[in-house]
Amino acid sequence: MAETVLVTGGAGYIGSHTALALLEAGHDVVVVDNYVNAKPGALADVEDVTGRSITVVDGDARDRKLVEHTMRENGVTAVIHMAALKAVGESVEMPIEYYGNNLESAISTLDAMRAAGVWKFVFSSSATVYGDPESCPIPETASIGATNPYGMTKQMIEVILEDVAASDERWTITSLRYFNPIGAHESGRISEAPIGKPNNLMPMVMDVATGRRDKVMVFGNDWPTVDGTGVRDYIHVMDLVEGHVAALEAMSAQSGYEVYNLGQGRGTSVLELIKAVEDVTGLSIAYEITDRRAGDIAECVADPTRANTELGWKTRRSTADGCRDSWNSQNT
Ligand code: UFG
Repeated sequence: MAETVLVTGGAGYIGSHTALALLEAGHDVVVVDNYVNAKPGALADVEDVTGRSITVVDGDARDRKLVEHTMRENGVTAVIHMAALKAVGESVEMPIEYYGNNLESAISTLDAMRAAGVWKFVFSSSATVYGDPESCPIPETASIGATNPYGMTKQMIEVILEDVAASDERWTITSLRYFNPIGAHESGRISEAPIGKPNNLMPMVMDVATGRRDKVMVFGNDWPTVDGTGVRDYIHVMDLVEGHVAALEAMSAQSGYEVYNLGQGRGTSVLELIKAVEDVTGLSIAYEITDRRAGDIAECVADPTRANTELGWKTRRSTADGCRDSWNSQNT
């Protein structure tokens, strides 16, 4: 069944790729975004690539009336809620803004949905809810315990969603716990373009590859991992967004609340990622080992079995594909 999907925060890196995947799968897309951390023009590029149009509303997901009106005007049938502040370090400095923004936008969007009679809700959660995991790969049944305000907003919203889903059988709600997204659509037209200094590894490596920065600071080589540097599960953003389409399409046969990890199930260290980028670009990426970053963990790798079996989804692209497509999106 073709859905008309409201993507809150749909102009960002993951949101614009989600819009693309939804359009390619035959769904219609409406976006509400306040453009605080989004590249103007990304959705126009998505329209160009797909030959389909997107209804874009420049506004805030916390504006309940606006969101309700947007859903009614456009015949929205499902919501993918991505609108959020997302920088871990910043969240430690600005907890009031993080709890205020992220919790309010989720609750307000749910309230608007109930008023408009829209009952399918997909939530952008994060592997950060696992905190420092007891072991890897991590199944959805692992214990939860975010270690920073950003992660705690995801954890708290998950709790709220479970209660909301239990309160009225019309709701179908799914939380998707993302591991570390990299890459871009194969067209290279839609890139990850963080505003200011990148926090995440791949945008930092891309800054060095393109000459915008001299070297990557590697945060510690004394972790208990394969080479002492941090290990993560880097998932290609196109695989990640295809996971959203699969989750949405599975909802017609589901009810209540579900949680899925979206990851490859394979770990890559910081040095392995740098090497993979060197291999696909032919460049040499300068780096320097420095102190551990506060709040970091050694390893975070998904067990994606539940999504594989229940959603019929699995990653199709490798870490090397993600490196190639991140690089490809820098050059266009
Ligand atoms: N790293 C460096 N140098 C950098 C940036 C990162 O060495 O300049 C290392 C980190 O120490 C870590 C790895 O690269 O070992 C990945 O770091 P990222 O900042 O790219 O990603 P994180 O795993 O720390 O965090 C990401 C998202 C969070 C999310 C979390 C879920 O940024 O929003 O994954 O696990 F919560």
